[in-house]
Amino acid sequence: MAPRHLMSPLDFSTEELDKLLDLANDIECNPDKYAHVCEGKRIATLFYEPSTRTRLSFEAAMMNLGGKVLGFASQDSSSAAKGESVSDTMRIVSCYADIAAMRHPKEGAPLVASMKSLIPVINAGDGGHQHPTQTLTDLLTIRSLKGHFDHLTIGLCGDLKFGRTVHSLINALSRYEGIKFVLISPEELRVPSYVRDSLVAKNIPYREVIGLDSDSMKDLDILYMTRVQRERFFNEEDYLRMKDFYILDKEKMKLAPPEMYVLHPLPRVNEISVEVDNDKRAKYFEQAQYGVYIREALILTLLGLEVAQ
Ligand code: NCD
Repeated sequence: MAPRHLMSPLDFSTEELDKLLDLANDIECNPDKYAHVCEGKRIATLFYEPSTRTRLSFEAAMMNLGGKVLGFASQDSSSAAKGESVSDTMRIVSCYADIAAMRHPKEGAPLVASMKSLIPVINAGDGGHQHPTQTLTDLLTIRSLKGHFDHLTIGLCGDLKFGRTVHSLINALSRYEGIKFVLISPEELRVPSYVRDSLVAKNIPYREVIGLDSDSMKDLDILYMTRVQRERFFNEEDYLRMKDFYILDKEKMKLAPPEMYVLHPLPRVNEISVEVDNDKRAKYFEQAQYGVYIREALILTLLGLEVAQ
């Protein structure tokens, strides 16, 4: 049977997504039940770009399930440095592991790799394009905080042009009824036109604004902050000009609704002041923890493993 891959958050139907989120919640509440289900299985983490949370949470997820991990954490430590293609690397890794997570600076590289793979491949971030497992993490966090996705107003702030987590999250949330977006960015870092076009095509209400202020925050259920993606800028000058455009601090939090939760895929640079960490609405560290449960659920689902209930 051909392996099932995960390239975009839309690869799962909303029903499948509900099941995946339920499984993640069960893993959170009953970790012991799942502690041996992946014994004898291995995950390969193939990271051609830096990562802390994504790679380590995949590895922690597999370990929590009783499995093992192998892989590389940078392009230089793999045969990519000798010119090997991602397809060849993936074909080889298929002989050594049961499932793989790949992060690559080139958009579409994990998709190309999946075409020759004998095992499930998970897109762990491809350039400025998509980051589906961060989106699954975000969805689990939002559902845990709000209980549902319908009729939420989601603010996304920062680098909406290069931020792949933003593109994936908008994509995934666009399927729910009554969803609205407030897109907060400087003019130069607005969402790409393909993202805007998809909102228009689906008749989803959205507003594009520059200021992070009481007007842009007043209706928000979630404020999703992002860092300016230095590595995707063509020149350092532009990055330096943009990098501190938004700083969410205590004063700004006073303008925000009492039930507006703050998320961030992390790493944060300066866009959220550390003084906000103690605000009860700051949920980005919990969000990183949810990343482990959802990746456990994803590994089980793609490997077709079930635990007797
Ligand atoms: C994000 C990414 O890699 O796109 N990080 C992550 O996986 N949590 C966000 C970022 O790097 O800004």
